[in-house]
Amino acid sequence: MVIEVKNLVKEFKTFERKEGVKGALVNLFRRDYKIVKAVDDISFSVERGEILGYIGPNGAGKSTTIKMLTGVLMPTRGIVRVTGLIPHKQRRQHAKNIGVVFGQRTQLWWDIAVIEAFTLLRDIYQVNEQEFQQRLKKFDEILGIAPLLHTPVRKLSLGQRVRCDIVASLLHNPEIVFLDEPTIGLDIEVKAKIREFIKEINRKYETTVILTTHDLSEIENLCNRILIIDRGKILFDGSLQKAKDEFGRLRKVTFQFYNEVSSSSLKERFADSRLDWAQNSEYSVSVVFDRNDVSAIEIIGKMMNAFRIGDIFLKEPQIEEVVKRITE
Ligand SMILES: Nc1ncnc2c1ncn2[C@@H]1O[C@H](COP(=O)(O)OP(=O)(O)OP(=O)(O)O)[C@@H](O)[C@H]1O
Ligand SMILES: [Mg+2]
Repeated sequence: MVIEVKNLVKEFKTFERKEGVKGALVNLFRRDYKIVKAVDDISFSVERGEILGYIGPNGAGKSTTIKMLTGVLMPTRGIVRVTGLIPHKQRRQHAKNIGVVFGQRTQLWWDIAVIEAFTLLRDIYQVNEQEFQQRLKKFDEILGIAPLLHTPVRKLSLGQRVRCDIVASLLHNPEIVFLDEPTIGLDIEVKAKIREFIKEINRKYETTVILTTHDLSEIENLCNRILIIDRGKILFDGSLQKAKDEFGRLRKVTFQFYNEVSSSSLKERFADSRLDWAQNSEYSVSVVFDRNDVSAIEIIGKMMNAFRIGDIFLKEPQIEEVVKRITE
């Protein structure tokens, strides 16, 4: 077990400031605060070599969890152990075992060239020169960073910077890497490269990867296991297939019409709370339903009575729909 989390809680105190002059005076003497439970009693463990997808809506508590795992934040309560260490207490030792990328913010020094930043990291982590060169070469093969090495970090585009950040986080060959939205705002090509790279280091070095992202196709592509968190609580822990099976009573049926169909006439048809529908165009509508509540035959029959149907597709739900149901 490389990560162990038990009954972990993180609370933030936020002060409610009073507005105006009178408020400012009140603020001096009295501070009303409220407590936000960002992470609310979660437990899980991670084995070596896993690629874990950590997903959930905005504000769910993902980054807060990652910050406790990396030692940036101290837990309010509960246990965190990463490779046997307590992150916020044994920070130096811990830093050698982990790599961290926060896609929203660079960890590199703004004013110096990329290669200088890498060399500094090499010295900080005491990576020997030969290994350092080998790794740079290997990483360059997939991420194509060689042309960027002599550019100051501040002059890099977002995609270039993130690629360098990812390389930087892995130069010391850490056992575990935390990637918090590493592909946010990147184009498809760079995303694909990063994906390939994550797979490669996982295969080659058995690096454990904890990945948070809102791009669920990334999760589908990479992760053998997902944790779904919402409002600080873990709602699901298991394989993607298990999520689909457990919540897989959902079906999606798409109808193609012969004629244009207005949204008002669809609204009329779908005045049924068991159905979740979305119009794709004037000629097409998709309906998501739980097959315990209603059968596909019933829906198809209803539609055929009301409209002239050209074609019908029945599909298993996509991961987006599964996650939406779980966090609803
Ligand atoms: N330093 C802080 N002080 C006060 N509240 C905080 C702080 N950091 C996070 N929070 C709150 O804790 C909750 C969880 O935030 P967190 O950043 O962990 O969410 P997230 O799952 O990473 O969301 P996103 O997908 O938007 O990145 C939110 O309600 C947030 O406002
Ligand atoms: Mg976050």
